[in-house]
Amino acid sequence: MELDGREFRNALGRFTTGVCLITAVNEQGEPLALTANSFSSVSLDPPLVLWSLQNNSEVFDVFAGAGHYAINVLAGNQQELSSRYARKGDHILEPGHFTPGENGGAPLINDALVSFECSLDATHPGGDHLIIVGRVDAMQVRPEGEPLLFYSGAYRALA
Ligand SMILES: Cc1cc2nc3c(=O)[nH]c(=O)nc-3n(C[C@H](O)[C@H](O)[C@H](O)COP(=O)(O)O)c2cc1C
Repeated sequence: MELDGREFRNALGRFTTGVCLITAVNEQGEPLALTANSFSSVSLDPPLVLWSLQNNSEVFDVFAGAGHYAINVLAGNQQELSSRYARKGDHILEPGHFTPGENGGAPLINDALVSFECSLDATHPGGDHLIIVGRVDAMQVRPEGEPLLFYSGAYRALA
């Protein structure tokens, strides 16, 4: 039985997620960000996390090849950042949105709930995405703040 693509997408959307900005620096030294909700924890010891990158992304080469990158979990008041860095071909970070990290220079998004500073552990083919597994070398945790949520194709907030 063949799944209907739209129905599958809609069904996946019934799983509530947070929203992240994945950040890295390209070969020219420019800081980039890409909105992603495919973030997931993998392992506690060693500390591993993953996210999935669309094979047809214009910034595929940068994010698939980045030895260091950061996964920034967005707060409820950062919806604009999510929309901004989900725009096609428009991923260069604005100066006011980040601070350069010390772990390989991956940009840290200002006021994110958490920034996981990762080094690339492994990549695995995943259909039309690439699964990127990172080892968490350091993290910056903001003690307070509410998360930005994504459910059924729309942004949500905790009630
Ligand atoms: C809430 C949300 C979650 C997303 N999650 C992912 C993701 O996990 N992986 C991914 O590659 N793109 C994801 N995207 C799409 C990218 O942010 C971006 O829209 C797309 O890559 C734009 O095309 P480009 O990369 O060619 O510029 C998501 C977009 C939104 C709005």
